[in-house]
Amino acid sequence: MTSKQQRPIGIFDSGVGGLTVARAVKKQLPQEALVYFGDTAYLPYGDQPGEIIAQRAQYALQLLRQQQCKLLLIACNSAAAAVETLGKVPPRLPVLDVIAPVANYLLAQRAHTHVGVLGTRYTIQSGIYAQRLVPRPDLVVTQLATPALVPLIEAEEQEGPAMTATLEAYLAHPSLQDISLLVLGCTHYEVLRPQIEAFYAGRVTVLDAAQLAAQVVATYLQEQGLAQGGGPVQDRFLVSRDTPRFDHMTRLFFGEEVQLEEVV
Ligand code: DGL
Repeated sequence: MTSKQQRPIGIFDSGVGGLTVARAVKKQLPQEALVYFGDTAYLPYGDQPGEIIAQRAQYALQLLRQQQCKLLLIACNSAAAAVETLGKVPPRLPVLDVIAPVANYLLAQRAHTHVGVLGTRYTIQSGIYAQRLVPRPDLVVTQLATPALVPLIEAEEQEGPAMTATLEAYLAHPSLQDISLLVLGCTHYEVLRPQIEAFYAGRVTVLDAAQLAAQVVATYLQEQGLAQGGGPVQDRFLVSRDTPRFDHMTRLFFGEEVQLEEVV
């Protein structure tokens, strides 16, 4: 019989992008087992209607619940926005997401007065970041949809000339010109951090949302007495559709190649 503490943390994204968050959680909590689910058969989420995204999120959360997870983390901004906006009831388990830690960070520290948020079409349309930052009326939040980025990353063109031109066009958008902090409001974008930081050359802080989410997970487990004490753990990586391309992409997002299991 597995104790509550020994149960895994469930992490979910539309694809392999959320592995950037899983990687940060693993780094912070190496003694915890992870079950990751990437809904690769339905990727990308960000261009789909909210009802569809919320339905898929519901499915994913149920699937992770069946894996006996003790805590669920929605490592997909689009899914987190859809679940919140459409008010779908999550399974009876604690569910955290990657947006709340960023919002709480910006509510707590007041050094920045104008922040930019890049995200998928759906995340930006939902206005989720601005909504969660309403308690700070002095903060200007400029949200920009950057839908061309995920297809290029998925095509493994995150470093080519097409990406450079696309990314620079987005970052040079007039509305973002006097920001002092940028939120990567899509978990895929973390792999673009080197190019984004090079573009800004220290002028703008690029927030590490994955690290903030990992910290929140660690604190939650500690506070709830759910932290795992130690011993060997086995992580699992589930996808709704596997292709050989993903094996290689896991190295990019998770830092090492992992064994993907297809589930339906
Ligand atoms: N990783 C998802 C997010 O954080 C976006 C990718 C997609 O469009 O499926 O919003």
